[in-house]
Amino acid sequence: MINLNQLQNLMQNRKPETAIILGSGLGGIADNLQNKLIIKYEEIEGFPKSTVAGHNGQFVIGRIEDKEVLCMQGRFHLYEGHNPKVIAEVIQALKYIGIKELIVTNAAGSLNPDFHPGEIMLITDHINFSGCNPLLGANDDKIGPRFFDMSNAYDKDLQKKARNIAQKNNIKLNEGTYLMVLGPNFETAAEIRAFRILGADAVGMSTVPEVLAAVHCGIKILAISALTNFGTGIQTTPLSHEETLSGAAKASGCLTDLIINYIKEK
Ligand code: HPA
Repeated sequence: MINLNQLQNLMQNRKPETAIILGSGLGGIADNLQNKLIIKYEEIEGFPKSTVAGHNGQFVIGRIEDKEVLCMQGRFHLYEGHNPKVIAEVIQALKYIGIKELIVTNAAGSLNPDFHPGEIMLITDHINFSGCNPLLGANDDKIGPRFFDMSNAYDKDLQKKARNIAQKNNIKLNEGTYLMVLGPNFETAAEIRAFRILGADAVGMSTVPEVLAAVHCGIKILAISALTNFGTGIQTTPLSHEETLSGAAKASGCLTDLIINYIKEK
């Protein structure tokens, strides 16, 4: 077992300032890293165990060219039954070890008929429909303010940079609003119709808690969805985790391409 101080010491000679959370079926970016250091979540004191197939549950620290990054292969979802606080603690651990920018990826269903499965979407804003918040409870003012602003949660400068990289590399990058549901069920057709009226372009079961915790503690966010399917009712065939994994595999090529080029230009 290692504690946070030991983790921080381990990072002293690596000094990653960018972390990447890899969503379902999107763990491949970590394979592109040089000089890898792997730390399993179960070895870190206070980290919960991830329970979803397709999520390995480890930090992979390594280099993309001369840039050191920390990948989270596997994340914690509220539908796993974790206390929402756990997600804030993981993000605050990233802050503690020196992370300044967080790239969050996820697999999501598309609610926008123009955004097709296998494509990617830059998240420009979110709707928290989960009913949960990782920052419930007493606030630690040393970490961040009790009431915090969300007007630049998805950092506009980072969005601009991502758009430029996508254009330069001929990567189709849709843009829109991500709506988080608690899960674990996929939505009903009526829910999907309602979410479209609310203004959502994609729906998924993650990301929002991590973004809230990151904004609270002052980590900048870039977030990208891999669109794996159309939402229930838009698509008439039943949804399954297998379909989201195969959709993620289709989208992962351009997602990896975008993120690798983004990191290289840092
Ligand atoms: N709904 C919720 N979460 C998802 C979906 C979806 O359609 N696809 C991938 N993750």
